[in-house]
Amino acid sequence: MSDLLRVATLGGDCTGPEVVAEGVKVLKEVAKLENIKLELVDFDISATRYLKNGGVVITDEEIAELGKFSSILFGAVGHPDVKPGILEKGLLLRLRFVFDQYINLRPVKLFPGVETPLKNKGPEDLDFVVVRENTEDMYVGVGGYLKKGTPDEVATQTAIYTRKGCERCIRWAFELARKRNNPKGKKVTLVAKTNVLTYGHDLWMRTFQEVGADYPDVQKDYNHVDACCMWLVKSPEYYDVIVTTNMFGDIITDLAGVLQGGMGVAAGGNINPDKGGTSMFEPMGGSAPKYAGMNIINPIATINAVSMLLDHEGYSAASKRVMKAIQFVTGTKMKSQVAGKMGYTTSEIGDLICENL
Ligand code: IPM
Ligand code: MN
Repeated sequence: MSDLLRVATLGGDCTGPEVVAEGVKVLKEVAKLENIKLELVDFDISATRYLKNGGVVITDEEIAELGKFSSILFGAVGHPDVKPGILEKGLLLRLRFVFDQYINLRPVKLFPGVETPLKNKGPEDLDFVVVRENTEDMYVGVGGYLKKGTPDEVATQTAIYTRKGCERCIRWAFELARKRNNPKGKKVTLVAKTNVLTYGHDLWMRTFQEVGADYPDVQKDYNHVDACCMWLVKSPEYYDVIVTTNMFGDIITDLAGVLQGGMGVAAGGNINPDKGGTSMFEPMGGSAPKYAGMNIINPIATINAVSMLLDHEGYSAASKRVMKAIQFVTGTKMKSQVAGKMGYTTSEIGDLICENL
């Protein structure tokens, strides 16, 4: 925790800036209440700018500037006129890699008043976190084509796992289980596919066992990824901390996200826990072009990301304050978490959170 909290904001496209504006509103208010000195710097990086300036997603100078911040609040990028993959790889994945944000943290918590598609499950059943490795696996871009465009075409996309990559992620997950100190018992579940991926996921399993030995107070558990998908739906209360690979983590966190009420509430952090690291917090939803400019998108996910950012920066009281206000507003005020059906506008939700901090 430092005397001055400096946050870079990156609203992005369509509804991205609308939700980030509400996140900033809440950040300013909680900083006032908690006597935190806050400095915000906004970065204009978006598909709109990319389309205007001839194909530059982000410059090296901007990356260097962003690197001077310990936290970034990210909205969403994506535009109907930009081909899929360009912004995802050019911005989101690039930032994850250059800043070595090796943890992708996805808390899965059902807030009061929020509807889950699961029958007979409530907030007490859905409260776990997914720690997804964020810098390796099939995401590294290793691969290529042979005889492209011919009937004999071959394509490869290699999953890379390193001992260092698994170890730092697994260790962080065990530390998190200690920090969460779940009254039902501390547990870390490794989710992988050791019965088929007998090299890469064997490395994960061996590393899990070795690192786990340093945490005798934490239960060590393993699920194959396919079985995990069943358990997530059937018995989500089974989980405390899940640690998993980048690709599997991507998939199961969308499943988990919908269980907690969907894109309007789910948030994530791309974290570099090392000293001097730059982390990035974001709502899980995309840029939702069809809702842009209507003031009807749900900003709760972004405000949830603000709570994560504050916790990561060491402002735990401020983080909890935001979290409590979110739960009060979802539990007693909002009609739904769906855009346009909340009973309030986007900016009214931001105001409601501020009033209840
Ligand atoms: C996520 C997203 C990204 C990913 C995409 C946009 C590249 O789905 O953050 O989960 O696959 O990691
Ligand atoms: Mn995803």
